[in-house]
Amino acid sequence: MKPDAPRPIPVTWRRKDLLGIQELSAEEITLLLDTARQFKEVGARDVKKVPALRGRTLVNFFVEPSTRTRTSFELAAMRLSADVVNISASSSSLVKGETLKDTALVLQANNVDIIVIRHGSAGAAQFLAERLDSSIINAGDGAHEHPTQALLDLFTIREKRGKIAGLHVAIVGDILFSRVARSNIWGLLKLGARVTLVGPSTLVPRVFERMGVRVVRRIDEILEEVDVINLLRIQHERQRRAYFPGLGEYVSLFGLTKERAHRLRSDCLIMHPGPINRGVEIDSDVADDPKHSVILDQVTNGLAVRMAALYLCDSHRGDHDAIQTNRRATA
Ligand code: CP
Repeated sequence: MKPDAPRPIPVTWRRKDLLGIQELSAEEITLLLDTARQFKEVGARDVKKVPALRGRTLVNFFVEPSTRTRTSFELAAMRLSADVVNISASSSSLVKGETLKDTALVLQANNVDIIVIRHGSAGAAQFLAERLDSSIINAGDGAHEHPTQALLDLFTIREKRGKIAGLHVAIVGDILFSRVARSNIWGLLKLGARVTLVGPSTLVPRVFERMGVRVVRRIDEILEEVDVINLLRIQHERQRRAYFPGLGEYVSLFGLTKERAHRLRSDCLIMHPGPINRGVEIDSDVADDPKHSVILDQVTNGLAVRMAALYLCDSHRGDHDAIQTNRRATA
């Protein structure tokens, strides 16, 4: 199925910050996705750069490790002609005991326009957003939200399947500690998808059903019925005790093996936010299967989505119509 044709969305972006998907309306999410579609076209040009954020400065402030998100935000800012500085925890004065607030005030004193922050504590991005004039983009805060990951997942589903409403999406694995899962659940439900969570009771407690999703305990229950299957990594770094007996048992109950992948519908999309633990949540051959796997498309689309997030949050400074501005931004 071909993706929907572009159509104007009658909303204006008024937010200074992008902190989570929970707070966004379906119209705002759709505006972000439509803006990303326009910016994706920039990546196909010989000169992959537009002047939309010329004169703006952006700090990539990553207190937790990252490959995809950090690279993608840096490239997105460069393609929008912003000036970019990267700060990591180990190379900052955080290691000398400086607080997050003081670090952020130092950035603001340098007139930084946009701060992209990844932090191990839920609420870190909101903490900065409430105290600084700079736009704050949440690149992952603890187990709370990872909004641009959800947006790139939604973008990829819409691009590949032409729609999101009415699709059945399974999210498998460590939901309890996953900011990716929470942001995806909010986004998918707001855009009209059906969501089933799959995992052991320790990692997928029934309390998630209150969000409006179904919870099942075995991956074998859902293989034949889903349009999208999103495998999540076990987040050992956030777990303080053992949540399942061992990796062998986990693979036998929840791993997307080659045998299980054969039972998926012919048009089912296989997704993973990365980084992948090959042979655990997903078999290596399944992750690389060009027929079903869209894992690298997710990475590619992350760049366009992050260009859209940076561009729209910066646009709050002027009360202009986002659609008009998008046309100028991608010219
Ligand atoms: N998906 C994701 O956030 O990956 P990174 O940790 O590499 O940024």
